[in-house]
Amino acid sequence: MQYNTISVKATREYDICIGRGILAGIGDMISPILGKCRLAVLTDSNVDALYGSTMMEYLASAGYDACKYVIPAGEASKCAENLLAFLTFLAQEQLTRSDAVVAFGGGVVGDLGGLSASLYLRGVKYIQVPTTLLAAVDSSVGGKTAIDIPAGKNLVGSFYQPSLVCCDTALMDSLPSDIYRDGCAEVIKYGMILDARLYDTLHTIPFDREAVVARCIEIKRDVVQQDEFDNGVRGLLNFGHTFGHAIEKLSDFGVSHGEAVAKGMVIAARIAPLCGLCDVADELSALLLQYGFDITCGYSANEIYNALLSDKKRRGGNISVILPRAIGECVLYDMPVEELKGLLQKVM
Ligand SMILES: NC(=O)c1ccc[n+]([C@@H]2O[C@H](COP(=O)([O-])OP(=O)(O)OC[C@H]3O[C@@H](n4cnc5c(N)ncnc54)[C@H](O)[C@@H]3O)[C@@H](O)[C@H]2O)c1
Repeated sequence: MQYNTISVKATREYDICIGRGILAGIGDMISPILGKCRLAVLTDSNVDALYGSTMMEYLASAGYDACKYVIPAGEASKCAENLLAFLTFLAQEQLTRSDAVVAFGGGVVGDLGGLSASLYLRGVKYIQVPTTLLAAVDSSVGGKTAIDIPAGKNLVGSFYQPSLVCCDTALMDSLPSDIYRDGCAEVIKYGMILDARLYDTLHTIPFDREAVVARCIEIKRDVVQQDEFDNGVRGLLNFGHTFGHAIEKLSDFGVSHGEAVAKGMVIAARIAPLCGLCDVADELSALLLQYGFDITCGYSANEIYNALLSDKKRRGGNISVILPRAIGECVLYDMPVEELKGLLQKVM
């Protein structure tokens, strides 16, 4: 079976395999890494209905003894109750240190599966099989795992790298268009922060999925290899996210993550010229509109500012914002939160 492989060198070295229809070969991809072992597949109700039995058949035909745990689809499932329930399931199934978890789904399943694997028996291996565009280009790569708690999204988690990522782009054919579009916001983000050529190709809609997914993963891999634990350059991946998270929170998560990131990228692009950087706001807005994003913010500068004050990226009285210097080149810009308030008031 033909597929593209991207290797990651982080605290754990692993391959990301990308291609159309490659799920059928998952057993052959797993066996050199894990050998003979038991596998616990974590998935959600939507993915299970579409591909659950196919996945279990592929694993069985490769000789794997696999069990399956299904959580309800949706962000609400990325919670402490499901973490404990899945850990309990692993114990009941008597998984041992040499066995592994397979996270088969979008970012919710990936984050919960990864965190569970990092905790069970103080750490068992896990495999990411992303099924959304967002999970493929973002959450399945780089080893950030998390659950949400009532005090906030992604507040409890770990850095824990997978042992393999198997990214079958055909699985994304069944994605509802709004969920596919959410992933497109992250793809546009990669073009904006680090690759003008990728950005240019995105003017062709639909883009070449295999090529674009592979390029985004390469960009994320390069950033993660430089800064696995998110103390520096990895912050660039948050372009649009600082303001996007504020918008998600203000909307009580009624605005989807991708749409919030799209709005957030436009705010950042409008701030950039006020900091002596370039003005790409019109160009970026035009591309986002082509993808069907609503880029109007919907909130006032003061509302955004107040929501930002609880951002995880805030350090003391300063906040890091990511601003474009050009299409394909963003920079981390550290500024006092008060200064950001003034800038927000000017652009909104
Ligand atoms: N760990 C990281 O680095 C990282 C990075 C970005 C986002 N995230 C997290 O990822 C999550 C968002 O990920 P997401 O957008 O994939 O959400 P998701 O996992 O909730 O998936 C979105 C929806 O798509 C459905 N779905 C998944 N695959 C499908 C398919 N192939 N066909 C049809 N429907 C399918 C799901 O059931 C769900 O309803 C958030 O919790 C976010 O915090 C993590």
